[in-house]
Amino acid sequence: MPRGLFLTLEGPEGAGKSTQGPLLAEHLRRSGLDVLSTREPGGTPIGERIRGVLLDEAHREMAAETEMLLFAAARAQFVREVVSPALARGVTVLSDRYVDASLAYQGFGRGLDVAVVRWVNEVATGGLLPDLTVLLDIEPTAGLARARAARGKEGAVGRGDRLEQEAAAFYGRVRAGFLQLARESPQRFAVIDARGDVDEVRRRVIEAVDRFLRESRERPEPAG
Ligand SMILES: Nc1ncnc2c1ncn2[C@@H]1O[C@H](COP(=O)(O)OP(=O)(O)OP(=O)(O)O)[C@@H](O)[C@H]1O
Ligand SMILES: [Mg+2]
Repeated sequence: MPRGLFLTLEGPEGAGKSTQGPLLAEHLRRSGLDVLSTREPGGTPIGERIRGVLLDEAHREMAAETEMLLFAAARAQFVREVVSPALARGVTVLSDRYVDASLAYQGFGRGLDVAVVRWVNEVATGGLLPDLTVLLDIEPTAGLARARAARGKEGAVGRGDRLEQEAAAFYGRVRAGFLQLARESPQRFAVIDARGDVDEVRRRVIEAVDRFLRESRERPEPAG
């Protein structure tokens, strides 16, 4: 059985990853693929415990290195329990965030050495990288405004979790970091303009993914 495709959605807060994920999964299913739509930590019990530590508002003093290692630890479990077994069964895996988020947030955003973050994540994932990464690109202010509006609708008190309380400069570095990662690996990334309404963005995403699927069908199957 051919291995499944591994697709990821990346981009800053409010870019629309969680909105576009299910829409893209639906499109892929209609195209005849067996799809697992997931996000880290993907329901792994160990990953959920780690996520709780990362998001706890009492943990404001968390060192950038601790944060980076915890994300990588959760990811190690996610790859082994969720992603790799699904790919081996021929399932297409679509993940809301993955390694590039750590490179952008902990590396470019928090200022850790990007090469170190990359190396730690290689250890965590056994070197598993996505076949295609859809980067939803948007100005940080626009993305944060969407996220804030969503919290307003939910009646929350306008305060996000610990990671959401970072300054605008941080988000500027994160966005620039994502775009740099895309420039460094143009064959893996599809950069999508995430402005406009949900349906406009959906059409752009589907167009890019369909192009990738066509091209990957045209590429010869790797031997073995
Ligand atoms: N194209 C769009 N136009 C307007 N609002 C949008 C659009 N896409 C998503 N939204 C809304 O913006 C908010 C944030 O979107 P979403 O949760 O999909 O972003 P996200 O990238 O998953 O953010 P996070 O990184 O915080 O998880 C949601 O309330 C969503 O309904
Ligand atoms: Mg989301």
